[in-house]
Amino acid sequence: MKLQYKWLLVLLVISLSGFSSDYDWGMTGHRVTGQIAENYLTKKAKRKIAKLLDGQSLALVSTFADEIKSDEYYKSYGPWHYVNFSFDKKYGEEKPSEYGDLVQGVQKCIATLQDENSTKTTIAFSIKMLVHFIGDLHQPLHVGRGEDKGGNDIQVRWFREGSNLHRVWDSEMLDYYGMSYTELSVNMNTLSKEQIKDIQNGTTLDWVYESQKLAKQVYVSANVGEKLSYKYMYDYFPIVRSQLQKGGIRLAKILNDIFG
Ligand code: ADE
Ligand code: ZN
Ligand code: ZN
Repeated sequence: MKLQYKWLLVLLVISLSGFSSDYDWGMTGHRVTGQIAENYLTKKAKRKIAKLLDGQSLALVSTFADEIKSDEYYKSYGPWHYVNFSFDKKYGEEKPSEYGDLVQGVQKCIATLQDENSTKTTIAFSIKMLVHFIGDLHQPLHVGRGEDKGGNDIQVRWFREGSNLHRVWDSEMLDYYGMSYTELSVNMNTLSKEQIKDIQNGTTLDWVYESQKLAKQVYVSANVGEKLSYKYMYDYFPIVRSQLQKGGIRLAKILNDIFG
């Protein structure tokens, strides 16, 4: 086989393996959550976090946990991006994964941030991971069904292209909408003080159950092979926006409780 063909074949295999679609919420979604959180930080928390992250913004570090997926060294963090458990059970009624999951990941990050003995390096690492995982927690299908990998195995069409239900929720809707993360974060719903307090109420698990409830709705929103387009955007993009906003506001609450 000529050398050029060999490389073409390698490229084809890489593209068919879905290599390029492995960014949860897409980069835009995670950056929106990071940017909104930044807007809700207290002055003190903002200053401390900026120092720990050497001036990098929460939006910038929000995609770190996806970027390290291509590094073998960080392989063990793979299962921390999602949690799958039966829709009719509470988390923990079935034995949680021994490899970790989104719930355990969030708890471990928070524990490291609260530990007085943590070093600056491990604190910075845990902030970056937490920003990402609180984003993932608000993508309904990251609290989906294990058997279809949170909708990754449910093939659908997105406009004229082949896609899957998970990818539609991670990135297709956000990409189609076409706003940058900064535009999206300044164009969120206007909320009263009471609404913000309501959103910040509850535990990580309460927020997980809320996402799972939405996941049930998402699973019946499309049939296998269905062509999703304008009507799907109209019906479901408001949920994407609202979940990103909630994620940002809740991330700020966690960080303010620790650093504020
Ligand atoms: N792989 C298995 N389950 C998944 C989920 N819910 N989200 C993303 N990736 C997964
Ligand atoms: Zn995802
Ligand atoms: Zn992720």
